Amino acid sequence: MTSPLFSPLHLRQLALTNRIVIAPMCQYSAQDGNVGDWHVMHLGNLSHSGAALLIIEATGVAPEGRITPNCPGLWSDANEAAFARVLKAVRQYSAMPVAIQLAHAGRKASCAVPWQGGRQLPEQDGGWTTVAPSAIPFNESDAAPHALEKTGMQRIRDAFVQAARRANRLGIDAIELHAAHGYLLHQFLSPLTNERTDGYGGILENRMRFPLEIFAAVRAVWPENKPMGIRISATDWVEGGWDLEQTVALAAELKARGCDFIHVSSGGLSPKQQMAAAPGFQVPFARRIKQETGLTTIAVGLVTEAKHAEAIVAEDSADLVALARGMLYDPRWPWHAAAELGAQVSAPPQYWRSSSANLFKPESR
Ligand SMILES: Cc1cc2nc3c(=O)[nH]c(=O)nc-3n(C[C@H](O)[C@H](O)[C@H](O)COP(=O)(O)O)c2cc1C
Repeated sequence: MTSPLFSPLHLRQLALTNRIVIAPMCQYSAQDGNVGDWHVMHLGNLSHSGAALLIIEATGVAPEGRITPNCPGLWSDANEAAFARVLKAVRQYSAMPVAIQLAHAGRKASCAVPWQGGRQLPEQDGGWTTVAPSAIPFNESDAAPHALEKTGMQRIRDAFVQAARRANRLGIDAIELHAAHGYLLHQFLSPLTNERTDGYGGILENRMRFPLEIFAAVRAVWPENKPMGIRISATDWVEGGWDLEQTVALAAELKARGCDFIHVSSGGLSPKQQMAAAPGFQVPFARRIKQETGLTTIAVGLVTEAKHAEAIVAEDSADLVALARGMLYDPRWPWHAAAELGAQVSAPPQYWRSSSANLFKPESR
């Protein structure tokens, strides 16, 4: 019997050879938003993992939307050229489809990289004034973000659209909008960060408006044959915050606007969150969204065992399973999973002698 984890899936016309996704992972290694040689190595390495889809890290659609000064961007010709160079190198030796996570960090922008403490950076240290739906800082000690006016929101929407156009020119296969982990679009969704009194705040319908407008605007310029999805936090893990009920409502609205997948994470909005992370702890959220909306779901979060990932797909809790840390720890995770589950993975022929001949199949698109 074929392994459910290694069964193919189509997202629009994008063929995925199995159900394993490499989750987006910030590398904090770009200069002025430009990706470079680190990304050639990092993405090149992951592109030989045998996963079905490689999602490029949170990529700022505007300079002030970067989490740190070293996060990549896609707002300029220079950014686009830098990505073209990296992708050319990766694609020369890998046929793995590549998605990009388009992001704006809102009030969580302008931070130091994690290995330099991760705190908010003041302007004199290379930081900038952040923007958000309301002037509420993440930490009480942080400088408050500037509350966005209509023109600022329009600029951000246009920036997402322009970045999507650039992504298409780069031959990127899919877009994932970042609406999770307390970044700008999540800040609009959650009542804890959105205290607006205009049409973009208050009732759920209003809080969803800006993320949905951005989704629709990007979808409108993203080619019909290419999939586009979203990453959300299914709950803030804070009483009175964004929760699963609201996420299900959002998922239904997204589906109506042509959303092809929803990548189900949680948390990141508030320092007050009470999160009890355990293996597969976010899978029930993906399952509920899938059951109620029929949307293609990606489950993520502390999945490290092949049999666990297999069960998530076999039990129909999610259509795809994403790994982040597990993939950094073991970039051949899908090879090992395929060996354990009696399946095959795509790998470059240079590496075929590493294991039994029937583990590998030629790369195909
Ligand atoms: C180094 C690192 C960087 C990350 N960067 C991003 C990111 O750019 N975008 C995002 O949505 N999540 C990011 N995450 C979260 C992961 O995508 C993932 O959701 C989380 O680590 C849980 O999955 P895991 O248990 O398999 O690591 C990052 C996680 C790590 C460890």
